Amino acid sequence: MKQIGVGILGFGTVGAGVADGLLRHRDVMAKRLGVDIVLKRVADLDITTDRGVSIPDGVLTTDAKGVLSDPEVQIVVETIGGTGVAKAFVLEALANGKCVVTANKKLLAEHGGEIFDAAARNNVDIYFGASVGGGIPIIRVLREGMAGNCIESIDGILNGTCNYILTRMENEGLPFGEVLKDAQRLGYAEADPSLDIDGFDTAHKACILAALAYGFQPKLSDVNVEGIRNLAEVDVRYAADSGYRIKLLARVAKDGDEIEVSVAPTLVPMSHMLASVNDAFNAAWVKGDMSDYTMYYGRGAGRAPTASTVVGDIGDIARNLAAGETRYSRGMPNYGDGNVRLKAAGEVASRFYIRFMVADRPGTFGTFAAILGRNNVSISAANSQKVGGDAASGFIPVVVLTHEAKVSDLEKALAEIEASGVVGAKPVKLRMI
Ligand code: HSE
Repeated sequence: MKQIGVGILGFGTVGAGVADGLLRHRDVMAKRLGVDIVLKRVADLDITTDRGVSIPDGVLTTDAKGVLSDPEVQIVVETIGGTGVAKAFVLEALANGKCVVTANKKLLAEHGGEIFDAAARNNVDIYFGASVGGGIPIIRVLREGMAGNCIESIDGILNGTCNYILTRMENEGLPFGEVLKDAQRLGYAEADPSLDIDGFDTAHKACILAALAYGFQPKLSDVNVEGIRNLAEVDVRYAADSGYRIKLLARVAKDGDEIEVSVAPTLVPMSHMLASVNDAFNAAWVKGDMSDYTMYYGRGAGRAPTASTVVGDIGDIARNLAAGETRYSRGMPNYGDGNVRLKAAGEVASRFYIRFMVADRPGTFGTFAAILGRNNVSISAANSQKVGGDAASGFIPVVVLTHEAKVSDLEKALAEIEASGVVGAKPVKLRMI
């Protein structure tokens, strides 16, 4: 049986999980794939901390450069993270003719073009299955299982930290900051938690999904990204009272030749499958023109789930290499060729939840309802909430749910309502599906 050598760069949480998977499942993978995958090198600056996996003698090293030039290493696994040294090592591995597996969504979302060009130039593969959805092989689904579909839409819960925070805020009525600390302690959160809670980790993943679905990768800076940092407990409660759960959703959808890519806290009906995705779990709700709706669910982060997908990628490359094939993947597709473009944020249409703090005096409902109407925003339901009012301030909370409206129309209406003096604070607006 042919042997394929693997070198891992980064012996942290995921790197250790990958080493563990390769060592423990070497035999079963050999039977399944017909190729013997051998862990040759694991490099990290720190090779003394116990990572809970027993690495064979001589495999651990502090010499990453040595791994990159080792002729026995055909596949380099990058589990360092970030865009500094990780980027340099990935480019060097590709230049040295090694195939690469990475779970680094930030690296791909920000430097994907350069990295995939390097892979193509050097006629080697780069796989990145764990960069979206951790243990859910959603990238493989889009690339292979649904290759015969025109993807109509993807709605994804793609950040475990945010989903964990939202679940506990709803179930336990806890404030945002307290739950974030727990998420960090449990190891879900990125080293920089703002990547999670401000929505950018989700946006990185949404850009990767857009590239796979539409052959078009939007610039991250052009994507409309809202996180959950400013989400008030009261809106989580009012949403629940109305039969909705708030999830941080990535939406990637096609409308003619325009592609919507956005990230926002979104009200999801409790009856929707995405509303049952709780704690640190991730899910993608994908509509293909042939498949109709399909749902993928699992752990989006953590050592073993992320390593599961990385090891799957290694297996695929190893099988291809053993068969003499090295140009199976070559990274993210770019077949859009300018035929599709990013939909402007203001043109996106959605149903909305709006919470106004309305002056408690005659005629105020009429004022804001008329302004919404004048701006093509149609109300589907309105409730004055029993709790959350502040009698002393003279303002009461009113929750309005709208029919589908254009973002730009709604924003114009809300600005007019604020200027009219009938509300005591900036209205809160959240998307709905
Ligand atoms: N911080 C990420 C999350 C890790 O919470 O989902 C996986 O990308």
